Amino acid sequence: MLKSPICELIGIQYPIFQGGMAWASDYNLASAVSNAGGLGIIGAGQMPPDLLVKQIRLAKENTDKPFGVNLILYLSYINELVDAVISEGVSVVTTGAGNAGPFIKKFHDAGIKVIPVIPAVALAKRMEKAGADALIAEGMESGGHIGESTTMTLVPQVAENVGIPVIAAGGIADFRGFAAALCLGASGIQMGTRFIATKECNVHQNWKNMIIKASDRDTVITGRPTGHPVRVLKNKLSKQFLELEEKCADIKEYEELGIGKLKAAAIDGDSEYGSMMSGQIAGIIKEEKSVKDVIEEIMQQTEDFINNFLKFVL
Ligand SMILES: Cc1cc2nc3c(=O)[nH]c(=O)nc-3n(C[C@H](O)[C@H](O)[C@H](O)COP(=O)(O)O)c2cc1C
Repeated sequence: MLKSPICELIGIQYPIFQGGMAWASDYNLASAVSNAGGLGIIGAGQMPPDLLVKQIRLAKENTDKPFGVNLILYLSYINELVDAVISEGVSVVTTGAGNAGPFIKKFHDAGIKVIPVIPAVALAKRMEKAGADALIAEGMESGGHIGESTTMTLVPQVAENVGIPVIAAGGIADFRGFAAALCLGASGIQMGTRFIATKECNVHQNWKNMIIKASDRDTVITGRPTGHPVRVLKNKLSKQFLELEEKCADIKEYEELGIGKLKAAAIDGDSEYGSMMSGQIAGIIKEEKSVKDVIEEIMQQTEDFINNFLKFVL
């Protein structure tokens, strides 16, 4: 049985996180992942606090296992979201797009573990110093907002520089990625794109189908000049974003073009003009599966792979 320090820290069976995904990971997906032995995470995105409270309560109705909430820290009303999470009580908070430092003590006082998503070693060290319980090192292969480093280069450098558990994210969707992450020094993995193409994910079927049909070069990075690059599946919208880059457009134009596009992907299934965020690993995902099948298959195959691999060591 493959166990790791992260399982003990959070009280989960398998060291597999489902990444918090705005508009894509609601209570239904999160509770299914937690019920299957991983850590399900509700992506709060830009939800108003009362909606987040509802989502947490629904997750609690659907699982008695630990689950988490992902918070985007740059929001103007972040303190209200933090208070909502604390008053409802969840096991874990993962944080993106900002400095989790000022919130860590408050979460700890409420018995909530804090696991920031980090794209670089410097922030990893800062977050460890500030009291983070573990870190998610996310490489630029990921779907959604990304940093500069690849998972392959980021994870070992973070693991070497901190003493807390590191979860590898970005470009992992099967046992090969899981085993590689362990080799790089990770204590577990976080997957986003793989979990979008599951039965329990409530995004529009068109988005799931685009992931299933994608090949290795079907994603592209848009929005670089804004300082907030995003990896998405190529479509008419991504082309429009790239055209803005070509004409050195004002940042305002990017913001205007982006309004409502994630909702258009998740709810309307607008495969031409929706922001179909997805990681580069989409090309390996060939069918929609249940969350339980995804998790059990990856656990079993990783264990088999490691056992067979060890036979080469004489
Ligand atoms: C549609 C989508 C939305 C995402 N939204 C968020 C988010 O709101 N907050 C966050 O920290 N990460 C977000 N991510 C990143 C995921 O949590 C996860 O780290 C990433 O998807 C892992 O890489 P993979 O897609 O290659 O599996 C998002 C990813 C996707 C695909």
